[in-house]
Amino acid sequence: MTDKRKVRKAVFPVAGLGTRFLPATKAVPKEMLTVVDKPVIQYVVDEALEAGIEHLIFVTGRSKAVIEDYFDIQVELDQTLRERNKKAEIELLEGILPKAGTTSFTRQQAPLGLGHAVWCARDLVGNEPFALLLPDMIMKGEKGCLKGMVELYEQSGGNVIAVEECAPDQAHKYGIVGVGDKIGDGFKITKMVEKPAPGTAPSNFFINGRYILQPEIFPILELQERGAGNEIQLTDGMVKLSGEQPFAAYHFRGDTYDCGAKDGFILANVAFALERGDIRPSVEGPLKALLQSLQ
Ligand code: G1P
Repeated sequence: MTDKRKVRKAVFPVAGLGTRFLPATKAVPKEMLTVVDKPVIQYVVDEALEAGIEHLIFVTGRSKAVIEDYFDIQVELDQTLRERNKKAEIELLEGILPKAGTTSFTRQQAPLGLGHAVWCARDLVGNEPFALLLPDMIMKGEKGCLKGMVELYEQSGGNVIAVEECAPDQAHKYGIVGVGDKIGDGFKITKMVEKPAPGTAPSNFFINGRYILQPEIFPILELQERGAGNEIQLTDGMVKLSGEQPFAAYHFRGDTYDCGAKDGFILANVAFALERGDIRPSVEGPLKALLQSLQ
């Protein structure tokens, strides 16, 4: 029988060094860089909570302790805000504080690849399906990407991966899936390949960084075989698991910003700022003028 147990836990691999954002990431984890006024990781956590996730598991690394601090109370700040009766700020911080006991942190001790980072969460996940959200990617859509995936999962069971279309010449940068029969807001996956050589991709549908996986992925990742880039690749593990379990693709139809890259990060800042009623009025005019001045 296809496994449809509720997805309660989400894994966030946040151990990456962020070398594309040096010098900023020398002292600040890339997940803590701000899009408008929230760290990137907050957008991804919000997406997980919107989808009904109850427990957040962070796979961190050395020099990432600030992420753990961010999801805790900052006592001095809290006291000062209360003394100054800063109600709005107190409410804002209370609103994003996870309930006690609903976060877990473990460390990936060496950068051996995404498959290895996920494997590091095996004890914290245990024997149940889990969501995996790559924190570089933040998404803007009417419905959160993971929420849409959970809805498809309730129908399909098994494993669900979110995909989007990319330009054919970009396919070599991603995991790419082959397209089978339609199911819900997506399709059955016939094939998966990590970073296909140019001209060999089975489609233009790329894996966008959101997954619902069954725990049987862990013993496969435990084998720790190296793949593309000499890293332990999650996609290779999923290819093996697909021999035993179904994989469906959820076709996400919103905007995705790769905040691990400078262009994506800048575009995310502009897009999310323009969506905000408190910011748009003072940003839109100067932004248009700036663009016109370049023509
Ligand atoms: C990872 C995955 C890849 C996916 C991509 C999305 O690659 O291995 O399948 O398409 O994330 O961002 P990375 O970006 O770590 O090279």
